Amino acid sequence: MRLDKFLTVTGTASRSEAAKAVRRGGVLVDGRAASSPAMQIDPDKCIVEYNGERVVYRQYTYIMLNKPQGVVSATDDGRDRTVLDLLPDKLQRLHLFPCGRLDKNTVGLMLITDNGGLSHRLLAPKSHVAKSYRFEAERVISDEDKMALEAGVYIAGGYLTKPARVELDEDRRYGVITITEGKYHQIKQMLEAVDNKILYLGRITFGPLVLDKALAEGEWRFLTDAEIEALESNGRN
Ligand code: URA
Repeated sequence: MRLDKFLTVTGTASRSEAAKAVRRGGVLVDGRAASSPAMQIDPDKCIVEYNGERVVYRQYTYIMLNKPQGVVSATDDGRDRTVLDLLPDKLQRLHLFPCGRLDKNTVGLMLITDNGGLSHRLLAPKSHVAKSYRFEAERVISDEDKMALEAGVYIAGGYLTKPARVELDEDRRYGVITITEGKYHQIKQMLEAVDNKILYLGRITFGPLVLDKALAEGEWRFLTDAEIEALESNGRN
């Protein structure tokens, strides 16, 4: 693979940035300054350093984002800012997309990737990937409502939701709800089915991924190797 392509696909630099860095002597291949952006490297074997930092080759990119309110989980939207607009330009060139959707006013954990196969497997209904959301409801959730939400309630189109888990705080307007499916506005609709209303919704887990508390709303980071492995084994089930 060409060195400049390697630097582009890893989200390290644009082609022109890569060319400039090579001219400055800022790109090392196996410890020596690269001779040309067109030089051929073996991405699995060569050790590439860009401005003093090791660049690790991955076929795919995986990003954890803490989605803020008011941003839509789409790749392109004529009106609103999208989750991709929160990433730096060099990552926006990688054909990334959000794995699944959160409503515009829902915050929290979003996986953004360019791995279509894995994304498809994680979102397939038969994968039953668990997603947990911290919520605030308008009214206290009674034991009866909790049991109904956990057993299944009817939402739009006469759909009966699959078993869910509801953990309530001492103040029973707050808690965590875990579902294994993803119908449109599912949690909002579930709360409405028990005459209640969601005031705040924030996703805290997605399959094996747990929202990194160090990420403020709008911030992102690459997944760790362990997180990628956990996701891949989840997506294989
Ligand atoms: N359920 C909802 O109602 N909204 C979301 O964004 C996610 C789950």
